[in-house]
Amino acid sequence: MAITIQQLQKWKRQGRTIVSLTAWDYLLAKVLDEAGIDLILVGDSLAMVALGHSTTLPVSLEEMIHHAKAVNRGVNRALVVCDLPFLSYQESVSQAIHSAGKVLKEAGVGAVKIEGGSPRIINTVAELTAIGIPVMGHVGLTPQSVHRLGYQQQGKTVEEANRIIDEAIALERAGAFAIILEHIPGELAATITAEVTIPTIGIGAGVKCDGQVLVTADLLGLSDRLPPFAKSYLNLRQVITSAVKDFATDVQEHHFPE
Ligand code: KIV
Ligand code: NA
Repeated sequence: MAITIQQLQKWKRQGRTIVSLTAWDYLLAKVLDEAGIDLILVGDSLAMVALGHSTTLPVSLEEMIHHAKAVNRGVNRALVVCDLPFLSYQESVSQAIHSAGKVLKEAGVGAVKIEGGSPRIINTVAELTAIGIPVMGHVGLTPQSVHRLGYQQQGKTVEEANRIIDEAIALERAGAFAIILEHIPGELAATITAEVTIPTIGIGAGVKCDGQVLVTADLLGLSDRLPPFAKSYLNLRQVITSAVKDFATDVQEHHFPE
């Protein structure tokens, strides 16, 4: 049975932690779904891990949809959420409606995610929610703002922490069904998690969130560089290299095909 946003919200109330990972293609998504991951995010981090860009900024809406379609074909159970990429929702509410609607119609995913907590973004979340599009929020470190914020931890001063708390509360009021908390102090994430009734999903935000997410390329040990808060559960880079070298040796020594 497919997981709904209501199910995720119920799990928060029950204290059942939500497990989330990113995916960018069919096979990976299928493996994650069959492993029981609750929420599969077609993150715009695919700009880096699938497309080789150095930030998330260059990826287009069309490219996100292309990957989201593939991911969605591999998933039966998880809720699939697709990031709206940089400049596909910030211009105006009508641009956001057009982009989010296109993602839902063409890729068939269940929800979209947008970054930030400014009044402009809060308004966009309210407008999307009002027409039936579930929106996940994302505060703290927001990689689409890398040129303004960098990649450092957010919410370290009292003023910044209070601003992020206010943003999370405003996102809930605007109708967001869940919020990503990225790279903020654990105590701040714990405060937000207690303040809002919608699930918080942390990445580099400590253990006291309602769920956790990682970029799957980081978890697998496939990424070029690892953020300080990520954890590799495997060195897939090494596993692949060794298999590829074994193949090359077999080919050169005429052991393959047998
Ligand atoms: O793009 C992404 O992978 C994300 C997660 C890290 C939350 O936004
Ligand atoms: Na993202």
